[in-house]
Amino acid sequence: MKAVLKIGGSLLYDDDGHVRIDRLREYAESIKSFVKEGHSLVVVVGGGRPARIFISAARELGANEAQCDWLGIKLARNNAELLCAALGYFAYPKIIDDYDELEVAVNLGKVVLLGGMVPGQSTNAVAAAAAELIQADMLLNATNVDGVYDRNPEEKGAKKLDEVDIIQLRNILSSEGTMAGQYNLFDPVAIGIVERSRIPTVIFNGNNLDNLKKAFNKEKIGTRITHSNKE
Ligand code: UTP
Repeated sequence: MKAVLKIGGSLLYDDDGHVRIDRLREYAESIKSFVKEGHSLVVVVGGGRPARIFISAARELGANEAQCDWLGIKLARNNAELLCAALGYFAYPKIIDDYDELEVAVNLGKVVLLGGMVPGQSTNAVAAAAAELIQADMLLNATNVDGVYDRNPEEKGAKKLDEVDIIQLRNILSSEGTMAGQYNLFDPVAIGIVERSRIPTVIFNGNNLDNLKKAFNKEKIGTRITHSNKE
């Protein structure tokens, strides 16, 4: 299978802001085992806590939204560097910063890593664009919640959805912010790409690595995005 895996930055830092070394090692080991089984992977890593800290400090100091976005982009790339270190020989050694290079690198048999790309979106949009470009069989989104909920998961009675149509997902997420560092789950750019190319997508809790294995085995986990309302 050809898969794009997005690893939420929040999965890689503990509550004190320390890098979760064990978590990175676990991800690297799982990714290596998928490669050994013959799968091909592009991995996009989010910015997580460092991105938020830098973005809010820069904003307070007078940076505009594009400048804040660039900070997030670079911090996500730094997180990708950490996974690159853990993957060693298995990784394409440069964090991709241009989609032309992605097309070339993906054919070299290495795990290709990305962080952020352009202002005005989140790394979920990068993952969606990468999945579209390489015609991935699956876009796997490892995040820190169990999936998509029918409303704010903190509200009483909120229910996790096993499946969500892309149109419904757009409605559920329509109240989300679009400021640097303030995206949750999918941003509008990511939704647009997943919708137009009907990318098979699963959003699941990446705190448990078994979920990743299940996702690779096409077992039901998290929330699957469906595309029933469009020809
Ligand atoms: P993330 O995608 O990491 O945002 O990018 P996030 O919502 O914090 O996701 P996780 O939980 O870490 O995975 C961090 C910030 O970097 C900028 C945005 O400001 C985003 O909020 N960014 C990222 C871009 O502007 N463009 C990109 O392509 C990626």
